[in-house]
Amino acid sequence: MTTETGAGQWGTALSMACSYFDLDCKVFMVKVSYEQKPFRREVMRTYAASVTPSPSMTTEVGRKILADHPGTTGSLGCAISEAVEVAVTNPGYRYVLGSVLNQVLLHQSVIGLETKAALDKYGVKADMIIGCAGGGSNLGGLIAPFMGEKLRGEADYRIIAVEPASCPSFTRGVYAYDFCDTGMVCPLAKMYTLGSDFIPAPNHAGGLRYHGMSPVLSQLYDDGLMEAVSVKQTDVFEAAEMFARVEGILPAPESSHAIDEALKCKETGEAKNIVFGLTGTGYFDMVAYEKYHDGQMTDYIPTDEELAVFRAKLPQM
Ligand SMILES: Cc1ncc(COP(=O)(O)O)c(C=O)c1O
Repeated sequence: MTTETGAGQWGTALSMACSYFDLDCKVFMVKVSYEQKPFRREVMRTYAASVTPSPSMTTEVGRKILADHPGTTGSLGCAISEAVEVAVTNPGYRYVLGSVLNQVLLHQSVIGLETKAALDKYGVKADMIIGCAGGGSNLGGLIAPFMGEKLRGEADYRIIAVEPASCPSFTRGVYAYDFCDTGMVCPLAKMYTLGSDFIPAPNHAGGLRYHGMSPVLSQLYDDGLMEAVSVKQTDVFEAAEMFARVEGILPAPESSHAIDEALKCKETGEAKNIVFGLTGTGYFDMVAYEKYHDGQMTDYIPTDEELAVFRAKLPQM
């Protein structure tokens, strides 16, 4: 069986191909995450996976990506292409996409169903539902039952996707058909995208490194049923630190993209029930926290000109 997890600790970091028969599991981990998130890598190796930084010279598509983008630090789109190649060229191996696509959001809807059951049990009505969005699977799952109510006119919620300013597919991408992976071996999907060739700057530590956005979320956003904002990574880590000090929980950098709205309520004095998707622990990300604490973390926001180069390469329909 092969899988690439979307929500949880690993989504923007890896893509993997596993064999049913001998439990051999080959993980392609985005090269920059491989280096910046060594503890995530070591957890996988502890559970017997072989972990290869992607793009790698071990696959044909990896070699092609490296020839086209010398020195690239990789992206989820590259890791997907490599894992798919391994799955289709090795008998007994399978690959199952773990973020972005509809069936994954359906699977992740257990997050939203449990959240809704808990809120109903305590008689709490959410005003706002907010979560980080890389490929969109954890957010799609979290909002599913609430969006259902909204669409049926039974309740209204403000729903906000938060993405990195360095990989802003919702807020600066276009709604178009694009490849789900950098090697262009996967099918096209209609989604908000920066272009399948887009690779976020290597200094970006907070994951969520996917060029596109789930087609379901893209449609909801395009229909005006949800909002999206992007945040700089230094602001993300500032919010993470504050959350840890107030709540006692050290959040994953990905989750921390979504920790801002409470501060706005504090400023305006409004009392609101904010549901926020805490998608992972930060204990595997202490290298990034260390960089932030040492003042070595920088922001990189792509310019309009840079984004236009990738947009021009979108498949023509
Ligand atoms: C901890 C964590 N949370 C959230 C995500 C977001 O992924 P998605 O938008 O596909 O749910 C990731 C992806 O890398 C992650 O590692």
